Amino acid sequence: MTEILIDVQNVTRVYTMGARTLYALRDVCVQVERGEFVAVVGPSGSGKSTLLNLVSGIDKPTSGQVWVDGTRIDTLDENALAIWRRNHIGIVFQFFQLLPTLTALENVALPMELRGGSARGRRARAEAMLERVGLGARMTQLPSELSGGEQQRVAIARALVNDPPILLADEPTGNLDSTNAEGIFALLRELGDAGKTILLITHETNLARAAHRTILMRDGEIVQTSEISRDVISAQISEV
Ligand SMILES: Nc1ncnc2c1ncn2[C@@H]1O[C@H](COP(=O)(O)OP(=O)(O)OP(=O)(O)O)[C@@H](O)[C@H]1O
Ligand SMILES: [Mg+2]
Repeated sequence: MTEILIDVQNVTRVYTMGARTLYALRDVCVQVERGEFVAVVGPSGSGKSTLLNLVSGIDKPTSGQVWVDGTRIDTLDENALAIWRRNHIGIVFQFFQLLPTLTALENVALPMELRGGSARGRRARAEAMLERVGLGARMTQLPSELSGGEQQRVAIARALVNDPPILLADEPTGNLDSTNAEGIFALLRELGDAGKTILLITHETNLARAAHRTILMRDGEIVQTSEISRDVISAQISEV
């Protein structure tokens, strides 16, 4: 039995600027099953980040509904959203967004602050997450003492530390060189294969190829969704 974890229902997001109206999203429907790894691709300005921000509750639709794991999130207030997000979603941003004065370990442990349990238990869990992303030997270093790829792996560990069912990533390799991007690619693929539900935005063919399914957006609409194999999809993405 498949289970729909993310259900974006007929969502439109309109920006009004003076007399101009811009449809960032136009009547978009997306369903992601538990355990699916979906890549969202499409040209700049096609609405990819807007879609992701609606799924995390960072943004609200102009019309339509956003359901995640059985909860309608577009009507939640900020407090309810903050609690909901902590239990359901890990977010990885393009620019890492690590706190510069905290070590890798402290950055990863931060989302657990508001959870119960002992400090020692939280520290052990943060350490285990850093081991998981291959940074066991870098725990006490500050972000400025880490490479871009290492910083992004810390950000992924932080996103996963509360064990959310869903990982959202917006261009997680956008600021990495190809070697570091390759490491993130391998990690996401591993997480996807391990059954984490992942919604990933990327410009990069390689990264999209790790996904089970690719959604192609253009001008605020989904123009294609593909379930063909990882290797075949790359040809289509490179045409975008
Ligand atoms: N706050 C805003 N005010 C007005 N227009 C906006 C705002 N945010 C986004 N838009 C517009 O909505 C459209 C979709 O933007 P979005 O950021 O979702 O694109 P994207 O596909 O993520 O692009 P990129 O690949 O460059 O990140 C764009 O035309 C953008 O200019
Ligand atoms: Mg974007």
